[in-house]
Amino acid sequence: MNDSQIKNWLLATDKDQQNLFKKACSVKEKTFGKRVWFRGIIEFSNICQNNCLYCGIRKGNKKQERFKMSPDEILSCLKFIDKADYGSVVYQSGEMTSNSFKNYLLEIVRLAHQNFPNLGITISCGEQDFEFLKALKEAGATRYLLRIETSNPKLYAKLHPAEMSWEKRFQCLKDLQKLDYQVGTGVMIGLPDQTIEDLINDLHFFVENKFDMFGIGPYVIHEDTPLSNDSEVQRWWHKNKSRNFNLSLNFLAVLRILQPNANIAAATACDVLSPLGRMKVLQIAGNVIMPSVTPQNYRNKYLLYENKPCIDENAEKCFYCLNQKIVRAGLRPIFGEQGNSPFFYQRKNV
Ligand code: 5AD
Repeated sequence: MNDSQIKNWLLATDKDQQNLFKKACSVKEKTFGKRVWFRGIIEFSNICQNNCLYCGIRKGNKKQERFKMSPDEILSCLKFIDKADYGSVVYQSGEMTSNSFKNYLLEIVRLAHQNFPNLGITISCGEQDFEFLKALKEAGATRYLLRIETSNPKLYAKLHPAEMSWEKRFQCLKDLQKLDYQVGTGVMIGLPDQTIEDLINDLHFFVENKFDMFGIGPYVIHEDTPLSNDSEVQRWWHKNKSRNFNLSLNFLAVLRILQPNANIAAATACDVLSPLGRMKVLQIAGNVIMPSVTPQNYRNKYLLYENKPCIDENAEKCFYCLNQKIVRAGLRPIFGEQGNSPFFYQRKNV
């Protein structure tokens, strides 16, 4: 597929867009049918050492009250995941590299692995060093999510403080592959100053580096962040909600065509731009959804962006609600399976 074809698809509207969606859907169904796999996500801490300019839990957001769940609280979430039979857990938090954080993360990975040996364990806790990633793998983690945010180092530099480096993040993704993790990455779509060429390069970056899983969603403003504080960005964002939602759908559809066997998650941020956003993603390109199992009292403290859905709900409500939505969308929820990435096994030749 050449760049001008990709560009046409990314910008497709009306009939062309419907044709793109049909094509992506048929590619998806060849591998996954109408099946949708779950990962119960536990957002266990919003303490973060980073200062990403777009993120609501950035260290510099002093308005944000901080929390870290106790192992007992995590165990109750794991019990819920087991009862719901989601098959997988994702541990997500702000990025910390202190020894106490590392020990704590190892402890809760072991907690999950020892008590629920059949559970797929995914980590999404930012950039970590090789030795620690190795230790996490030995403790039972098999998958890791780390978005590159953009494949363009110059755009990355505009979105992050000088201490953060695109190269370091890329190296971490390479380390994860070396350690035989199933590796997930992704970008935000509709970032200020992001061009269509950037998105085309993101797609090439994904294919060239053979990632197994993707979490990709639209950029959503958060008023207590430097990026959204810019009134021009705010105006632009509000005006382009529908453009950015369609761009996200088109991007995911093209990605599905390019990577037929990779796991693609329907990002929660999609629901901010369109009420059934995640369902649309699952109908077109996605095969994974990550219902929150974070206790209700912590949900309004884990706001990476504004208007995050489901913050007034508990894990039980999310379970019923998402199931119903998936069935209504003509798809089939799958329980009791880890739902590993078929592309990973293809890549490993096993
Ligand atoms: N809008 C959309 N996604 C965001 N993330 C962080 N802040 C925002 C935002 N304002 C995403 C980043 C990060 C993931 C955990 O959440 O891509 O990698």
